Amino acid sequence: MQEFSEFESLLSRSVQEKNLEFQRHGRLKHLIAASQLTPELLEKLCRSADLIRRLSRNPEGNRRLRDLLAHKRAMLYFTQPSTRTFLSFMAACQILGLSCNEVRDPKTSSEVKRESRMDSIRMFSSYFDVIIMRSQISNFAECCAYLMSDLERQERRSVPIVNAGAGSDEHPTQALLDMYTIVRTFDFDENSESRPSRLNELRRSFPSLTCGPSQKTYTFCGDIGRGRTVRSLATVLSQYEGVRMIFVSPEHDVLVMDEELRQRLKMTGVDFYEVNSLDSEVNGESILGQTDCLYMTRIQREHNSKDTEQEIAEIDLNPFLLSPERVGVLKSYAPILHPFPRDSVVGEIPTSIDSDPRAMYFRQARNGMWARAALLVHLFDAADSLFFAFSDVFRSPN
Ligand code: NCD
Repeated sequence: MQEFSEFESLLSRSVQEKNLEFQRHGRLKHLIAASQLTPELLEKLCRSADLIRRLSRNPEGNRRLRDLLAHKRAMLYFTQPSTRTFLSFMAACQILGLSCNEVRDPKTSSEVKRESRMDSIRMFSSYFDVIIMRSQISNFAECCAYLMSDLERQERRSVPIVNAGAGSDEHPTQALLDMYTIVRTFDFDENSESRPSRLNELRRSFPSLTCGPSQKTYTFCGDIGRGRTVRSLATVLSQYEGVRMIFVSPEHDVLVMDEELRQRLKMTGVDFYEVNSLDSEVNGESILGQTDCLYMTRIQREHNSKDTEQEIAEIDLNPFLLSPERVGVLKSYAPILHPFPRDSVVGEIPTSIDSDPRAMYFRQARNGMWARAALLVHLFDAADSLFFAFSDVFRSPN
């Protein structure tokens, strides 16, 4: 894209080089790509999210949370449809006392007067302290981070950029909340008061089961090719020990995993499989029977081109839909996740499954609020203040 041509050489650098630029002394300056979410950083963010969640249950805790970032302002610049990401970021801001404003329709901004997107961003950075943005243009958020780096070099005002969904490419904050949900689920209540330990009980049937995201099989189902949430979560999970992944999608060129992700997973040495039905088998065993966590997604129709529209409409989607029978094959502890929205016409997860204890997708969406609040706390270097607030309110933190 012409507008971003000045950033071309920066865009073609290695992931490592880019990630180095997006952090300072180990703390994120911008969140652009899921590869920035390392297991160490996720541990910190999940811990902060837990503190925020627990503080918010208490009136004094709520008050302390609202003081944390009361001196900051956030711009929510969402030019692509969004319900959960937008609202959970807004709720996260409200929890932390940040005031926020939004531009969702560029027709209401000076972009109609031919202002460039980059000038709009620089304007937002003049009035706000963080820009949280979603766009159908894959590289836009990344280029905004480069603009901020340029401004910083010139000792001008620069603010953190948060990628809240970039084209069909990346959705790092969704990966963050997915990981928070996975971490909490595979904690098996070990840190709560519940006796006997749920993990010990489960181990009678699943002797090799361990706490945490490592040593697990993750099955992703649906639009693997165009689902940015799948790409981002798979990228994060590939950093954990002994993770296996199974990708289930129709065998259409645009719906199967794209070559870039396939190569990336190969390079990281992840054991992964690609199959064309939830009833498929891998290594002589049904995939659902060996799944520790099932990640469902919808077919991303908005990305259909004129050429593929008809072909995709004719695909039999039944092998990619959950049913009570298929859920019955899952392990008793295996969470069912979905980034949402689910497609109410296709019904990849029928509502009859919502009452199953493994259906975690509504809790997952709520976790987005805590996880995104934790990210804001991190970006503004307020994790210590959060911890002090927690210690004050509860006296004995654990
Ligand atoms: C996802 C997205 O926008 O990529 N939604 C979300 O942010 N929770 C998934 C989707 O739209 O299918």
